[in-house]
Amino acid sequence: MDLENTKIDIGFQRTCQCPPTHINCLTAKEWIKNQLGVWQFTYEKRDIRDRSLHPATFPISLAKKVISLFSHEGELVLDPFVGSGTVLVAAQDINRNAVGFDLQEKYVNLSSQRLGSNNFFNHSKQIAIKDDAINISNYLSDNTVSLIFTSPPYANLLNRKRKNKSRRGDERKNDQYLKVEQYSQDPNDLGTMPLEEYTERMGEIFEGLLPLLRPKAHCVINVPDMWWENERITIHVSLIEEMRKRGFELRNIIIWDRTNIVNRIGIFGWPSNYITMGVTFEYLLDFWKPESD
Ligand SMILES: C[S@@+](CC[C@H](N)C(=O)[O-])C[C@H]1O[C@@H](n2cnc3c(N)ncnc32)[C@H](O)[C@@H]1O
Repeated sequence: MDLENTKIDIGFQRTCQCPPTHINCLTAKEWIKNQLGVWQFTYEKRDIRDRSLHPATFPISLAKKVISLFSHEGELVLDPFVGSGTVLVAAQDINRNAVGFDLQEKYVNLSSQRLGSNNFFNHSKQIAIKDDAINISNYLSDNTVSLIFTSPPYANLLNRKRKNKSRRGDERKNDQYLKVEQYSQDPNDLGTMPLEEYTERMGEIFEGLLPLLRPKAHCVINVPDMWWENERITIHVSLIEEMRKRGFELRNIIIWDRTNIVNRIGIFGWPSNYITMGVTFEYLLDFWKPESD
C-alpha cells in the first residue's frame, strides 16, 4: 500500500488574524481566567452520560478549554483515543480542524453522529477514523498538528467487574453492578493491557506522534490514578516518565476537580484507613514537543 496516498485532506493553518507569536486566540482578560491550576466543569445537554453508549467520556467544556488554550482557529487538533468524539465536537464548536482515532467502529460511528447534529456554521472539518492509534502517522504529515488532547484508556484497571464500592446501600446494585465496563477485549485495546505493557505501548504510540506535532505544540493527556486491591496505582507517574523518555517535555500538571459532578459517594476506609476517592479528581498532564526536535 502506498502510505503517502492515505494522508487525509484536512486544514492545519491558522485562519484567525492573531499575531504570529500568540499561542492562542485568547485576549489578556480571558488568559487570566485560565491561570488557575485547578479546573472544574459542568455537563451540558450534548454531553454523553449514558455509559451504555460509552463508559468513559469527559465534558465538552473541558475539551473546549484545552483547545482554546493551545490552538488557534483553523489549526489541527488530534485525539488518538477519540471514544464518543467529545474533542471533535468541541473543535467543531470553536472552529478547529480535528481528527480522532478509535479501535472501535461503534465509537467512530457515535462520534460522526454527534458531529452531524452539531453546529453547521463552522468553516473547519472534523473526522473520526477507525484505526489503531499506532498507525496515525500514516494519515497525517509531519509538523501539521498544533495540539494533541486525549483521554486514553487506563491500562486494564477498568477491565474487571464493577463492585460499586462508592455507592451506598441499595444504589450499589444498580445497572452497572458486576458489569465489566471496558471498550473491548481486542488485544490491541490499551484497556486490556497490564500497566507495564500499557505504558510501553503508550510510549510507542506517542513517540510516533511526536514528528506530527509542530515545535512547542502541546500534548495534553487526561488520566486519573486508581485503587487496585488497596494499592494506589499512579498511572500519571508511569506516563510522565514514559513520555519524557520518548522526547516530550512536561510543562504543567492541572487538576480537574470533579467534586461538583460526583454525587452520592460512600464512606471509603472510615474509620481507620484514609483514602481519597479516585473519582474526585483527575490529572491533565500537559507536555510539549521541544523546539529542537
Ligand atoms: C477513555 S476513552 C476516550 C473517551 C473520550 N475522551 C470521550 O469523551 O468519549 C478511550 C478510547 O480509546 C479507545 N482505544 C483503546 N485502545 C486503542 C488503540 N490502540 N487505538 C485507538 N483507540 C483505542 C477505546 O475504544 C476508547 O473508546
